[in-house]
Amino acid sequence: MTARKARGQHLVSSCRYGNRDKKAHGEDNQRDRPLIVVVDDELVTVKRLVRALAKEGRVEGFVSADEALAFIKQEAPDVLISDIRLQDADGVYLMQQVLSMSDEIAVILMTGYASIEQAVEATKKGAFHYLEKPFHISALKKVLRKALVSMQARKQMSLISHELVKNGGFGRMIGLSTPMRQVFNTIAKVAPLDCNVLIQGESGTGKELVARSLHANSPRSSRPFVSFNCGAFSEDLIANELFGHEKGAFTGALTTKVGLLEAANGGTVLLDEVGEMPISMQVKLLRVIQERTFLRVGGIKPIDLDVRFIAATNKDLEKMAAAGDFRYDFFYRLKVVTIELPPLRERREDLMPLMLHFVEKAAKKFGKPVPKLSDGFVEPLESYPFPGNVREMEHIIERAVALSQDDTLRASDLPPDLKLIRPEPVDKRREEGIRPLRSLEKDYIFDVYRKTGFNQSETARILGISRTTLWRRLKKFNLLHKSRAGKS
Ligand SMILES: Nc1ncnc2c1ncn2[C@@H]1O[C@H](COP(=O)(O)OP(=O)(O)OP(=O)(O)O)[C@@H](O)[C@H]1O
Ligand SMILES: [Mg+2]
Repeated sequence: MTARKARGQHLVSSCRYGNRDKKAHGEDNQRDRPLIVVVDDELVTVKRLVRALAKEGRVEGFVSADEALAFIKQEAPDVLISDIRLQDADGVYLMQQVLSMSDEIAVILMTGYASIEQAVEATKKGAFHYLEKPFHISALKKVLRKALVSMQARKQMSLISHELVKNGGFGRMIGLSTPMRQVFNTIAKVAPLDCNVLIQGESGTGKELVARSLHANSPRSSRPFVSFNCGAFSEDLIANELFGHEKGAFTGALTTKVGLLEAANGGTVLLDEVGEMPISMQVKLLRVIQERTFLRVGGIKPIDLDVRFIAATNKDLEKMAAAGDFRYDFFYRLKVVTIELPPLRERREDLMPLMLHFVEKAAKKFGKPVPKLSDGFVEPLESYPFPGNVREMEHIIERAVALSQDDTLRASDLPPDLKLIRPEPVDKRREEGIRPLRSLEKDYIFDVYRKTGFNQSETARILGISRTTLWRRLKKFNLLHKSRAGKS
């Protein structure tokens, strides 16, 4: 990389120019912002770009390729923006060095007319994009944002594989958001213990998957895992299903039937939709859990029971208990540990990793190559509230992969009602100039947040609220992920 050292290089080579100053830009949230490296042989250009891109992330500028490379090795930035003509190397060579170290960095090349052919060649060698000089800064920002989103997705993908290796047992459960990490931690802690667990969450949030992970990571993993849907049977049938019956216990009981509890002995029983269980049955089951024995219907010989109970529900059992619709004693017996699964709309960080996961899963299922995702396909999904949670996303993606005609998923592969989704729905009142307070608040907070370069400390200071309050608002309005996606 020293082949093309130019005169004067030494003078400017030690010049590093950046906006990563902690004092100027808040402290702890700096690490969350993307890191961008700018290299150009003209210091004025470097300075101009560092300033212009400050809102997109932490920006470091260099006039020397050598120094930029040393920095990149150390800090693993998300994007490198480099001129092709440099003093001590050429940008394409720098790009190749960088890409040989990592594929989690996007390289954007800037090129004058003279080196345009080189730039075209460079995209074949892995450059994310090239921009012909002179360009408008908004054009660079647009490309940069695309690069950041693409790198974020790639990093999440490799994080997922890493997490899967690390958490082998949670196998099929994807989640990078803070609440999901907490769920994984709880599973890891609680699975080996033999305590009952109550899993609460809306429909389709992954309750059964959590129950299976608990079983798979427990000493009971080689024994049966049996799921029983408490809402699917009438009261009489529940007893029959769970406890079994003796021959002749009732008309039609021609043979002895082994119940589900007996079949699961030594293993784990999931009481799914436990909120649907009739009160009288709760009384019976509570006794079984306490005494660890039960009788088949019509039987007189107690059978020892050794199972772990996991209960799942999308109802608020505490409220039900307060209203007299669920027994408190049964509730407390089940919820030795509670795992809350947040709805998908409250963990937008999981959207992209889940999407990629389901695309791969569906491609494998249908024996198709894994398709790429176009912006037109991803954007409506990013704004969609997913009332059916993860299950709904899985169905949407599966359908799209099944229908897609080529190697890319597009907006046309989405269900019709999703195609109509716009990030900011304009309702009639808005057209008349009347807007709900909530929407004004959201816009104002986002405006300040964007203008501070997505700096939470600074935004909180300007708005005169604590960082925690700001964080809660950002979360409530779904703005937390915006900074990462580089949207404004
Ligand atoms: N974190 C996740 N990672 C990968 N797949 C998931 C995740 N969460 C849920 N799924 C998938 O979504 C679908 C629904 O999950 P699951 O059946 O566990 O939800 P549930 O909460 O039990 O739903 P319901 O309340 O309707 O019974 C399943 O196909 C499951 O594999
Ligand atoms: Mg379920």
